[in-house]
Amino acid sequence: MEGTNLNQIGVSFKGSGSYVPNQILTNQDISKRVDTSDEWIKSRTGISERRISGIEEDVSQMGYKAALAAINMTKWDINTIDLIILATSTPHDLFGSAPSIQERLGAKNAVAFDLTAACSGFLFAVITASQFLKTGSYKRAIVIGSDQISSYIDWNDRRSCILFGDGAGAIAIEATLKYDNLIGFDMRTDGQRGCFLNLPSQINEDVITENINYSSSSFSSIQMNGQEVYKFAVKEVPLIIENLFKKTNYSSEKIDWLLLHQANQRILDSVGDRLNFSRGKILSNLSDYGNTSAATIPLVLDEAVRNKKIKQNDIIATSGFGAGLSWGAALFRWG
Ligand code: UT7
Repeated sequence: MEGTNLNQIGVSFKGSGSYVPNQILTNQDISKRVDTSDEWIKSRTGISERRISGIEEDVSQMGYKAALAAINMTKWDINTIDLIILATSTPHDLFGSAPSIQERLGAKNAVAFDLTAACSGFLFAVITASQFLKTGSYKRAIVIGSDQISSYIDWNDRRSCILFGDGAGAIAIEATLKYDNLIGFDMRTDGQRGCFLNLPSQINEDVITENINYSSSSFSSIQMNGQEVYKFAVKEVPLIIENLFKKTNYSSEKIDWLLLHQANQRILDSVGDRLNFSRGKILSNLSDYGNTSAATIPLVLDEAVRNKKIKQNDIIATSGFGAGLSWGAALFRWG
């Protein structure tokens, strides 16, 4: 079975890969640092532990390993990759971390760049890459979500430090003729509510010469209004998916898997309930990894593909949401 028949170029999803660092930070570990408990964290978020990258790791190294695993699944010749997009909010180089993944892969024919949209980043990058493929500009793309959020957490702030972890995931997308496995998508931004989740730069005023001043900058830690982000997610995510169902003539009964950004198990369950998804159809690995920002969607996807939960031609409804505030949804057929 193949996707919608077309007389134009479509895309297909050919492989997935992921990587998580070895260091495990449990809820018990966190409770030695801040006033919290395993019971509180598990019941409010569904998270038991998360991975923290070591000092020798960064988003490029994690992203490279995830991308390589995805490419190995496809068996593509590395020289045939045209495009690499890295979704990240925590680059190890503010000028872009994707080129160093391109270099590590030896994908010398690929153009590589970063895309920043926080927890919506991976979904936005998949949609962006798909546009390049559908116009016929490029044939093969690797889309990576990789984040090292641990570097930007205030580990003394119990309201936010419990949620996040590090990791990376990737998928391989190819232009195809006649069918399109990206069934539909929608993306939204509301900058007015951007103040609810930020990782702002800290401006330090200084002078270059007597009459020319400038601001040197560094980054502070994640600032989050958890309750507002929670309310935003449980309201907007069902709406955008419902609208996508209407646009594409799909409904939850026709969907095999609900693949949401892994932010909080209560958000996943609430969105699933609103859309009439049985709990068994909601993919989740929050318990093991927490919120890895741009990496959560490809990380759960890869896990489900490798343990043969997601099968060829399964239909997946996905949604990314978070800082911006930004959110998006896509319906796609795996394969
Ligand atoms: O990619 C998007 C990233 N962000 C998110 O997904 C955040 C979405 N929001 C959430 O997941 C939830 O709002 C949180 C898990 C962050 C917080 O859960 P909540 O049920 O909304 O708790 P709350 O903020 O309403 O706080 C309830 C109580 C407060 O105590 P008081 O004022 O009622 O006495 C907090 O001080 O829980 C307290 N609290 C904690 N207690 C133990 C807050 N954090 C903790 C903690 N351990 N870690």
